[in-house]
Amino acid sequence: MVAGASEGLGAAFAAELAARGMNLVLLARRGHLLAEVAEELTGRHGIEVRCVVADLADPAFVEQLASAASGLDVGVVIYNAAFAPLGPFLDNSEPGITEAVDVNVRGPMLAVQALVPAMCDRGRGAVVLMSSLSGLQGTPHIAVYAASKAFNTHLAESLWYELRSHGIDVVACCAGAMPTPGYLKNFGKKVPGMLSPQEAARRTLDALGRGPRFVPGTVNRMTAVLMGRLLSRRSAVRVIGRSTGDVT
Ligand SMILES: NC(=O)c1ccc[n+]([C@@H]2O[C@H](COP(=O)([O-])OP(=O)(O)OC[C@H]3O[C@@H](n4cnc5c(N)ncnc54)[C@H](OP(=O)(O)O)[C@@H]3O)[C@@H](O)[C@H]2O)c1
Repeated sequence: MVAGASEGLGAAFAAELAARGMNLVLLARRGHLLAEVAEELTGRHGIEVRCVVADLADPAFVEQLASAASGLDVGVVIYNAAFAPLGPFLDNSEPGITEAVDVNVRGPMLAVQALVPAMCDRGRGAVVLMSSLSGLQGTPHIAVYAASKAFNTHLAESLWYELRSHGIDVVACCAGAMPTPGYLKNFGKKVPGMLSPQEAARRTLDALGRGPRFVPGTVNRMTAVLMGRLLSRRSAVRVIGRSTGDVT
């Protein structure tokens, strides 16, 4: 199951899982894009796809997801969708902040609680929660998003420990920038060491079973070490702020 699968990294996760022979439950708001992804993957890999047109900001998505997944042995849960209010925090609108909390924070918890108990009963499965290098330190002008990504990293790490005795592996994918439609619309610029969404998806799935936190890409891993371990918090926030402080 991929939540946020109509384009970008989510569609890349779907394609990578399909290439590994897995049937899919794909969720997003734009049904026509989901249908295109589903048609391409069924045609290319001979798998089955169920599409769920739902808004992850609405907690009712859980019932739609549970109904689409009924009768299936869901083995992998990927919570990929996210919303990022941009610009100075004091200028962020209340609806934008609420959407980020609903989609980025409440959504992954509800999805895990809906689908993972059955995986525990079967004694196997995997969960990927999408985080970001932005979540390793405060990120000015992307503050709510960065805080929500830190939340996902910590949630995944906690669940990695809690669920491993049930046979479930959990990983937080702390991705760096990727040229997805969402990224290109908001930021437009390419940065050194960028992975394609396809490469990031492939490496993240390969990283399952290798620990609770994964940073895809060598340059991104070096960045994570610099920002998370070598620099003081003050310096790390200043460095990132020089790059994101003009985001509006
Ligand atoms: N791209 C990057 O540079 C980058 C870097 C680090 C981390 N990440 C993380 O990687 C993940 C994917 O990023 P991306 O750039 O591929 O995002 P994206 O291009 O903006 O795509 C987001 C996907 O999530 C879906 N989605 C968003 N809000 C939704 C909602 N309320 N309900 C249902 N579906 C929703 C979108 O589909 P619909 O619009 O059709 O609903 C789309 O399929 C995110 O968690 C992001 O934080 C991205």
